[in-house]
Amino acid sequence: LENGLGRTPPMGWSSWNAEGVNITEQEIRHAADALVATGLRDAGYIYVNLDDGWAGWERDANGDLTVDEASFPSGIRSLADYIHSKGLKFGIYSSAGPKACSGRLGSLLHEDQDARWFADHGVDFLKYDSCDDGKSGLGVKERFVRMRDALAKLSRPIYFAMGYWNEDTACAAGPVGNSWRTFFDIYSDVNRVFLTADKNNEYAACQGPHFGWNDADALQIGRLSVKPGGDPDLEAERTQMTLWSIMKSPLIIGYDPSQMGSKRLAILKNREVIAINQDPLGKQATKRFNSSDWDVWAGPLTGGRVVVALVNRNRDAVQQILVDWRTVGLESDARMTARDVWRGANLPGTHATNMGPFPVAPHGTVLLILSPVQSPWSSFWTWEPFG
Ligand code: GLA
Repeated sequence: LENGLGRTPPMGWSSWNAEGVNITEQEIRHAADALVATGLRDAGYIYVNLDDGWAGWERDANGDLTVDEASFPSGIRSLADYIHSKGLKFGIYSSAGPKACSGRLGSLLHEDQDARWFADHGVDFLKYDSCDDGKSGLGVKERFVRMRDALAKLSRPIYFAMGYWNEDTACAAGPVGNSWRTFFDIYSDVNRVFLTADKNNEYAACQGPHFGWNDADALQIGRLSVKPGGDPDLEAERTQMTLWSIMKSPLIIGYDPSQMGSKRLAILKNREVIAINQDPLGKQATKRFNSSDWDVWAGPLTGGRVVVALVNRNRDAVQQILVDWRTVGLESDARMTARDVWRGANLPGTHATNMGPFPVAPHGTVLLILSPVQSPWSSFWTWEPFG
């Protein structure tokens, strides 16, 4: 969607995974404070997104949206003001149906009125879900187009994040939203992360800075385990951060930043990984090879660089993974230097044809950036590894 927003994937926090529908204004303020105190805001995570659970069940006498007063006694405007006072932006949630997924109010057939209400209440980001009762007879795309058009009439810019419609969302959605979910809800189990990444990978052709972003749902860092209900696993968390970053997914934190601890914060705040996600080229990396236990993902970055992720899906055994230039889209004689991003180390020498093998920990990832060797001739040549 060309509305001047979302030239790079949005970064922030959402209440959904942490709090569900029982969200309160104190928890949102707490999240805003924590984003500042942990340095996450300064690393780029600027949206504080209030998901489902804030709205009332019935409209007021004017047909306006109402708010759950027990959970939001100070009201939405004062919450938005608080978030803005912290140098953050405020996101809210509604649905393209008469009711949201929780059964609270949605916005279908009230789009203009609700869009004005959001603008009057200081909203900067709208997550617009697809829950609907089907009674309007409107097709799914039309239900989203109505809100896009309502937002376009406002003087306040509002990022338009769309929910999951169906398998066809991504390639139909670019002219409608700034981003769109490509699969059902994520949860804090690494197999769900792998499945979600594979689904998101199918839509790589349908994204970009002047189109919009494939949204693989929230980051589970803080609670991502290798089996349902298990302990969080740092290797798996680094893997999710890697895949979401290289796929140019929105980076929306799903858990309480104040509970993360320094190792998790270091994953979320890694500047080089964030820079891959925010690279102005905005091209989604794709899965180039998979065996039963591991994958190789790769994609182009600005400056003729290539990002490569070696992902071990096996939960017990280290995998030895080779980087073959043909797999990652380079000519076999391309001479490259390499940086191991999570280790923060340049690898010695220059490389052609292949590199490795690299040992990759169970459920872990090795993330590399390959850069063309700078020669005295480089100012005469433009390196185009993807031809
Ligand atoms: C859907 C969305 C979730 C969340 C819930 C809220 O399931 O996919 O991300 O917003 O609705 O009810």
